Amino acid sequence: MGSAIEVAGLTKRYDGRTVVDSISFEVRRGECFGILGPNGAGKTTTLEMVEGLRRPDGGTVSLLGTSPWPRDTSLLRRIGVQLQATAFIEHLTSIEQLRTVTDLYGVPATRAEEVLEQVGLTDAADRDVDALSGGQRQRLSIACALVHRPEVLFLDEPSAGLDPGARRNLWDVVRTARRDDTTVVLTTHHMDEAEQLCDRVAIMDRGEILALDTPAELVRQLDAPTRLMLPPGSLTDDQAHGVDGVESVERDAGAVTLVTRRAAESIQALAALGALDGLQVRSGTLEDVFISLTGRQLADPTEEAP
Ligand SMILES: Nc1ncnc2c1ncn2[C@@H]1O[C@H](COP(=O)(O)OP(=O)(O)OP(=O)(O)O)[C@@H](O)[C@H]1O
Ligand SMILES: [Mg+2]
Repeated sequence: MGSAIEVAGLTKRYDGRTVVDSISFEVRRGECFGILGPNGAGKTTTLEMVEGLRRPDGGTVSLLGTSPWPRDTSLLRRIGVQLQATAFIEHLTSIEQLRTVTDLYGVPATRAEEVLEQVGLTDAADRDVDALSGGQRQRLSIACALVHRPEVLFLDEPSAGLDPGARRNLWDVVRTARRDDTTVVLTTHHMDEAEQLCDRVAIMDRGEILALDTPAELVRQLDAPTRLMLPPGSLTDDQAHGVDGVESVERDAGAVTLVTRRAAESIQALAALGALDGLQVRSGTLEDVFISLTGRQLADPTEEAP
């Protein structure tokens, strides 16, 4: 398989401030690789250096076996780039916009309809790009990045500003691209998105990669407890504290919660008590991983407010 991207010691400074601080990682061919981090972490800067859109101040990038900087036009055909801020050609309809791109890349014009369908925009084919909603614009920009069947697809916060339905549609688009063996590199600050889509995730903060692994392994290494939640009346305090493996018990109006690091044992004990009705199991998430690494929350509650 080999690697699609190799990054070593990559560094970027602005006015003497280091915003990407000697990071190294590898993206394997065919994988979906996520860079997860809060605003200002350096995700876009990293992506743009890998894409060959920004010049690094230090370190090396190998993209499909060649250096993306200085600009290498033969590489452009092999990669698809969706930027965080997208501009379209004004006063074109969606389909015209895509046909312009097919012409540019010299791929058959029928490919325009195909990708429009793939991103679920067929109904908006004849709509002026300026009249598209935020989510539709986002999907059109991904369609533009997919038109020439790139080997590597870069998506910078592809689901920013999308409602939950549009976000799931986008996840399908990414999964479809992967079935065509496309390597996908995406940035996000939604841990659920990283968990859903990415084979491996680099957690980035303040220009550094703090952890890099599969979502499952990142969560496992955290050794966060599992929370078993039951309806409030289901157990007495004594019963709850007596359940095998339980470290602590929390009780509020909505639930009695058993905190355990030996969930299987605890659930067996609950079964023996006949107390499984209404059980909800909540285990650690990437959000917990981020908090434990940085002491801060990943999600910014003020962001993406309507
Ligand atoms: N052209 C520039 N000149 C000066 N500073 C910049 C420039 N571009 C980015 N920065 C700074 O570099 C840091 C990293 O920015 P970057 O856009 O890479 O972060 P990000 O992780 O993509 O954030 P977001 O989630 O908001 O998109 C930020 O502090 C930003 O202000
Ligand atoms: Mg960004």
